[in-house]
Amino acid sequence: AAWEKQVRLSSTPRRTNGFSVLVTGAGGFVGSHCSLALKKRGDGVLGLDNFNNYYDPSLKRARQNLLSKHQVFIVEGDLNDGPLLTKLFDVVPFTHVLHLAAQAGVRYAMQNPQSYISSNIAGFVNLLEVAKAANPQPSIVWASSSSVYGLNTENPFSERDRTDQPASLYAATKKAGEEIAHTYNHIYGLSLTGLRFFTVYGPWGRPDMAYFFFTKDILQGKSIDIYKTHDQKEVARDFTYIDDVVKGCLGALDTAEKSTGSGGKKKGAAQLRVYNLGNTSPVPVGRLVSILEGLLSTKAKKHVITMPRNGDVPFTHANVTLAFKDFGYKPTTDLSTGLRKFVKWYISYYGIQSKTGKESQATGESG
Ligand code: NAD
Ligand code: UGA
Repeated sequence: AAWEKQVRLSSTPRRTNGFSVLVTGAGGFVGSHCSLALKKRGDGVLGLDNFNNYYDPSLKRARQNLLSKHQVFIVEGDLNDGPLLTKLFDVVPFTHVLHLAAQAGVRYAMQNPQSYISSNIAGFVNLLEVAKAANPQPSIVWASSSSVYGLNTENPFSERDRTDQPASLYAATKKAGEEIAHTYNHIYGLSLTGLRFFTVYGPWGRPDMAYFFFTKDILQGKSIDIYKTHDQKEVARDFTYIDDVVKGCLGALDTAEKSTGSGGKKKGAAQLRVYNLGNTSPVPVGRLVSILEGLLSTKAKKHVITMPRNGDVPFTHANVTLAFKDFGYKPTTDLSTGLRKFVKWYISYYGIQSKTGKESQATGESG
């Protein structure tokens, strides 16, 4: 296959630690940024993505083009394709997997529940089955989600807080992922590190997320919906800038234990680890909107809805002490600074859209 030649050429690790990383979801928002960062520091990187059309696939293809300019290749395929995954591990002795492919989005789970089961549960298990049989067994770092805290009311959220009240099917599948990871660590000695990301934003972001379509709608003069909590308070999110999350992912890979091929009860076996990767500073959605209004020099047409959206949690707020202690994770980008970088990228990528919604697309790489 075409990718095999590319892989043999591109996966030779040059870095002293000699990582060779399979990045699943490399055509996605977080995956594309992490792939570039790994490549830039000299690790061997190969991507996998099915380029599904949950959101505009042309944006995924543009990310893929950017990666290919940096000699990062993405194999087009699905997590559920066992023979393909086995072949990848046969060709490249991956030391690590950064598993970011998933069906993301909280609300879409009510329209297409099966896609969450297929990618986040069945696809994850398929990847673990292949990883467990691989030689060497890779260490796996995977994306969980702040949504596992669900209706937890501890503020801020610590890794030991309860996660038994998911508010959406998306959250339930991410929680299931953590439990599935536990069993693969326990029985097969796979090294597994889960990262609970908190509402990640930035250049090359996801068009289904609020900060992204608020920007689009404000520029086009369309009204935006702002939801409230049950008790009429503002909803808040611990919005986390992409570069901080990338540093956290690389730090987690660097400190991941080795897979041992033997179960978690044995002495010296890898532990299952789970970390919050947030910004430690929740911001109400109204404040997000006013920062965007300032950056876009345009007033938003706000439509306030006096109840929560189905599946939403009232707030998220990360305690990141554990990630700091274990791999020095320290978020450094506040929401205004990060949104400025996002808006700069957005305008260079799409151009300023007219109020009719007509787009003049550029292919800027800003950000
Ligand atoms: P994204 O949708 O941009 O990236 C995911 C990529 O995975 C997409 O390119 C998609 O095509 C691919 N994919 C999906 N299902 C697949 C399958 N079955 N086989 C192969 N490829 C598949 O999302 P993102 O924002 O980059 O999120 C990355 C990870 O982080 C996801 O696991 C997501 O659940 C998690 N997460 C994201 C956020 C956030 O705010 N962005 C927050 C918490 C957790
Ligand atoms: C985001 C991602 O979309 C999920 O994939 C991810 O797992 C999750 O973060 C996480 O941290 O785990 P969410 O925080 O719901 O989920 O992100 P958005 O959909 O962008 O919503 C952000 C905020 O804007 C929410 O408080 C939501 O209530 C609000 N919002 C959204 C509105 O007020 N109006 C809208 O039209 C849309």
